[in-house]
Amino acid sequence: MKAAQARILLTGGSGGIGAAAAARFVNAGASVMLVGRTPEKLSTQAHALSRDAAPGTPRVQWCTADLTQAAELEELGEIAAEWGCNVLVHCAGAPSFGPLESLDPVDMAQVLHTNLLAPMLLTRALLPHLRRLQRAQVICVGSVLGCIGLPGYSVYSATKFGLRGFAEALRRELGDSSVRVQYLGPRSTRTPFNSAGVEAYNRATGTASDTPEAVAQAMLELLESEATERFLGFPEAWAVRLNGLAPARMDAAFVKHRNCLSAAAKADAAPGATSPTTAFQGLES
Ligand SMILES: NC(=O)c1ccc[n+]([C@@H]2O[C@H](COP(=O)([O-])OP(=O)(O)OC[C@H]3O[C@@H](n4cnc5c(N)ncnc54)[C@H](OP(=O)(O)O)[C@@H]3O)[C@@H](O)[C@H]2O)c1
Repeated sequence: MKAAQARILLTGGSGGIGAAAAARFVNAGASVMLVGRTPEKLSTQAHALSRDAAPGTPRVQWCTADLTQAAELEELGEIAAEWGCNVLVHCAGAPSFGPLESLDPVDMAQVLHTNLLAPMLLTRALLPHLRRLQRAQVICVGSVLGCIGLPGYSVYSATKFGLRGFAEALRRELGDSSVRVQYLGPRSTRTPFNSAGVEAYNRATGTASDTPEAVAQAMLELLESEATERFLGFPEAWAVRLNGLAPARMDAAFVKHRNCLSAAAKADAAPGATSPTTAFQGLES
């Protein structure tokens, strides 16, 4: 649908990609409800977006919710329905990077919950409302790593592969309804999502990255085109296709990634390093 007709519930609205997407949507005439966990951040952001918007057009609201808390998620669904949401964008996400044995089981569960279970539950909660509308869209922000597994991303990739499977199955399930389900696969994007270790890994493997604004533009185009899915980056989009056809044949392309993983993960373990990690990445070997 055209942005001007969209009332978008945007999870992860306080994050690097989410904030850029909110600005892009508002600029194109959409109304946006930002979702995050920090009221101060959301309120400042909503205020700035409303101030910069053309008079009388888009409205920016915000709502706090920890998406891993069932009660908060249910309540968010009700608020969104009451607000008249007709586009649900799942952009909230948590990172995970490092050799599998180094990952903390509690963090692993949190990442699975945030990246996979929460979008499923929130979609489920909002679906009765969305089905009643003439046109509605659900956009899942996945990753290129939702189609290609790289060393260091076993858990993160599992969540994004899962999200893609969810989007594909639900799209077919709702094929005769007014609800369109879409998947966006960014490649590495320059936001605080990526730790020092991920950045070291990207440098060592020659992985390219995008600005959050480039991802925001792709998200707007996905909204308006209603395309099924879109992957960012030229080699990445091709690699997604090749990996889908012959994954075992692609294994040799990631030797460099495997070889630099331990050193990259150490950058996160070093004193003063930022907490966990992740993102997704490209695939030059
Ligand atoms: N950056 C990349 O390289 C990259 C590449 C491909 C795909 N992606 C995907 O793009 C999406 C956005 O990434 P980003 O780079 O913008 O990350 P980011 O800057 O770290 O932002 C993460 C967002 O998720 C929200 N969030 C995390 N856990 C939450 C929870 N339990 N409840 C509610 N909100 C929660 C955060 O809210 P708070 O403000 O409350 O923390 C924040 O708004 C993610 O799904 C990520 O997997 C990122």
